[in-house]
Amino acid sequence: MQADPLIEPLDRAHALPARYYVGEAMLAMERRAVFARSWQLVAHRHQLAEPGDHVVEAIAGTPVLLVRGQDGVLRAFPNVCRHRAGPLALCNGKGARALHCKYHGWTYTLEGRLRSAPEMQGAADFRVEDIRLPPLRVHEWQGLVFVALREDVPAFAAVYGGIAERIAPIDLAAMRFHRRDSYEVACNWKVYVDNFLEGYHLPHVHPGLSKVLDYRVYDTELFDWHSLQSSPLRNSSDIYGDGRAYYYFVYPNVMLNIMPGRLQTNRILPLGPDRCRVEFDYYYAQDEAAQARIAADASFSDEVQREDIAICEAVQKGLASGTYEAGRLCPKRESGVWHFHNLLRAAYADAAGERA
Ligand code: FES
Ligand SMILES: [Fe+2]
Repeated sequence: MQADPLIEPLDRAHALPARYYVGEAMLAMERRAVFARSWQLVAHRHQLAEPGDHVVEAIAGTPVLLVRGQDGVLRAFPNVCRHRAGPLALCNGKGARALHCKYHGWTYTLEGRLRSAPEMQGAADFRVEDIRLPPLRVHEWQGLVFVALREDVPAFAAVYGGIAERIAPIDLAAMRFHRRDSYEVACNWKVYVDNFLEGYHLPHVHPGLSKVLDYRVYDTELFDWHSLQSSPLRNSSDIYGDGRAYYYFVYPNVMLNIMPGRLQTNRILPLGPDRCRVEFDYYYAQDEAAQARIAADASFSDEVQREDIAICEAVQKGLASGTYEAGRLCPKRESGVWHFHNLLRAAYADAAGERA
């Protein structure tokens, strides 16, 4: 990374300039450069267990439909009819026999082939068998389902590889979905990610969390497309259990917060240049100890989340104030922020090169 002239070495690094955190144009650029060019977490296997089960999502403004076929294969398509762009499904569902467009009733098989199109007999050279929904890339990992809009995303294994091995014997695939909490935050999506990526704010923003993590040995490791912050847990048998806290960030907008017997996934979804939604999905191991901690985990996580939201919203105001110039990063505590910003800088440069 250091060889790239765009990239400052960590001990000289500055944060990303404020202009990247404001304005519609920047977000539109990021939809193309970042979100359309990465693996996006969209669902969990339990939502798509049987043929006809489907999930409706959007990636970078593109409506996406995931559906399990009669053949048991999980597929993803743009949720966009080949007739005049109507939606094939409006919400998640179970056991559909076919995909009926909600506009004029063209009907596709679960595998994406057009089966019937009412009253089209008069259309010359029109054959239903010629029409199919264009497939998108899908990947399942540890029960989580990912979609990529474009072909030229990094190989999935290059992005998520090594995580499952690192956290063993914790087994993410064995955990069951418990609930989703969703928060709207008045900040750019990157403010939320930046904040996640450093423990530097821990003593100042999270008095409760500071008691269960050990700031002195809180550690950050960098990989190609993800980073890991980890800390031993202490005073935490009722909340998280005994062991280690693993906080994974996977570029560009996924977090895997792993405690003994519990996985919490976060997806950071931009709603506008200064607004995002954060979705937390909780999964728990089926053992008694993990189940007994669910309520304490929920209230403690909510407290930490409220603290993060308040500081992120204040930071967004600071970034939009016109008074902020990109500041120096703390090499000891902010290498994760540096790593994320470098991946963004590379993505922005790629997108600029492509337009030129
Ligand atoms: S847009 Fe789908 S049937 Fe017309
Ligand atoms: Fe925080």
